[in-house]
Amino acid sequence: MHLPDFKVARTNTKIAYETKQFHLDERYRNQYKGKTCYLRTYGCQMNEHDSENIKGILEEMGFSMIDDYEQADLIILNTCSIRENAHNKAFGFLGRVKHLKEIKPEIMVGLCGCMAQEEVVAKKILEDYPWLNFVIGTHNFYELPYVLDQSLQEHKLQIEVYSREKDLVEGMPIERDNPYKAYINIIYGCDKFCTYCIVPYTRGRQRSRAKEDIIAEVKSLVEAGYQEVTLLGQNVNAYGKDLYTDYSLAELLADVAKTNIPRIRFMTSHPWDFTDEMIEVIASYPNIMPSIHLPVQSGSSRVLKRMGRRYSREEYLTLFHKMKEKIARCTISTDIIVGFPGESEEDFQETLSLVKTCKFDNAFTFIYSPRVGTPAAKLTDNLTKEEKEKRLHILNQLVNQYFLENNQKLVNTVLPVLIEGKFPKKEDSYFGYTDTNKLVNVSGNVKEGSIVPVLITDAKTWSLDGKVYNG
Ligand code: 5AD
Ligand code: SF4
Repeated sequence: MHLPDFKVARTNTKIAYETKQFHLDERYRNQYKGKTCYLRTYGCQMNEHDSENIKGILEEMGFSMIDDYEQADLIILNTCSIRENAHNKAFGFLGRVKHLKEIKPEIMVGLCGCMAQEEVVAKKILEDYPWLNFVIGTHNFYELPYVLDQSLQEHKLQIEVYSREKDLVEGMPIERDNPYKAYINIIYGCDKFCTYCIVPYTRGRQRSRAKEDIIAEVKSLVEAGYQEVTLLGQNVNAYGKDLYTDYSLAELLADVAKTNIPRIRFMTSHPWDFTDEMIEVIASYPNIMPSIHLPVQSGSSRVLKRMGRRYSREEYLTLFHKMKEKIARCTISTDIIVGFPGESEEDFQETLSLVKTCKFDNAFTFIYSPRVGTPAAKLTDNLTKEEKEKRLHILNQLVNQYFLENNQKLVNTVLPVLIEGKFPKKEDSYFGYTDTNKLVNVSGNVKEGSIVPVLITDAKTWSLDGKVYNG
């Protein structure tokens, strides 16, 4: 039994780590042949990608994946802890699973992901959910075959969560969700410690994967016919800092571009680490998509300082304008938090004025959610829930207005779209994304997985309509 400790998780010392190859002990291979598993994933792309690895491991153990949790022999929740409502959703679902377990005591249930890393969650599970089979952390989820087996042998809950990161594991089996677009981790963890954010506690300090391993993965995806890779990390712009002196995200992007994968995206970027060199590389390779997710969080320098974001409003705007100027047709999306403790009406107005300047192409907006153990959770929060909701509503109205305006400017232009899927029951009706990451409903006769020119015929707030362009 290893329980998480947030004091240890918070330490900013570096831990020496090795890169190991995944190895499935032969006694676990096909151990559960004929059994089924339901895996529910909450949260970000990082979690979705972890789930692809978990599915890969489960399939080697003999499980087949199903969509109906009530029929499953094993139920796993891969959880998120970024905001309170992510917690609520996971505990709500566990409540339903509890009823099922009462009727079918033989079902196995496990929890993994970011919530597993939280001290408060581990305590709650021990007290209120002792019927679970296992809780396993983000740093060692590849130990799942062993931990599940242990819980069955001992007939009791196993909590195997390490407060700090462990070795990097390469060569994990994977079941990818999408046949055309693939996620690739390039860096794990985060060293930024923004004062509101729980990620550095749940995901550990930043650790980059070796460039050779990343390039090899991209090359194998190219061979398998993938059209797009998204390089993932909590802060991809810190890539390489812990491993190399002369190799950063700029060099990695260039090397990935040289594999000739048709589309490259990357996320998430912290503005503080965005160098001119990175901007130049993005601008110069046509297969690096002109679309950047650049979270601003607030338009007020005073709030940004209290958030520990390491840049001011002016510095963000300078970077924003530089990207727009240097990268042709570049779209920029963002994340914004309202109601951070102490956010005054004037601060909020500064956020609105920044949005009016930037006219983002997409924005994910949130009400601040205090996370136990983070520095911001100790700040006095003097805004009412109603005031926070009001600010979120005003902000959403404004960002939506720019999404629509930006989309309207694209009507009658021709854009390249990667066709990802077909609408069921509709003849010649597909959907896909432009290079600038806009969702398009496409009519015409096309092949799924191809990149085709599309004439945009109509614009909505969150999507475009278009038809295949034949010249
Ligand atoms: N409360 C609200 N939003 C948060 N985010 C991160 N932590 C919190 C929090 N405690 C948002 C940030 C981040 C995105 C992934 O989630 O905007 O960029
Ligand atoms: Fe969290 Fe992102 Fe800040 Fe890291 S950079 S602490 S992941 S908000």
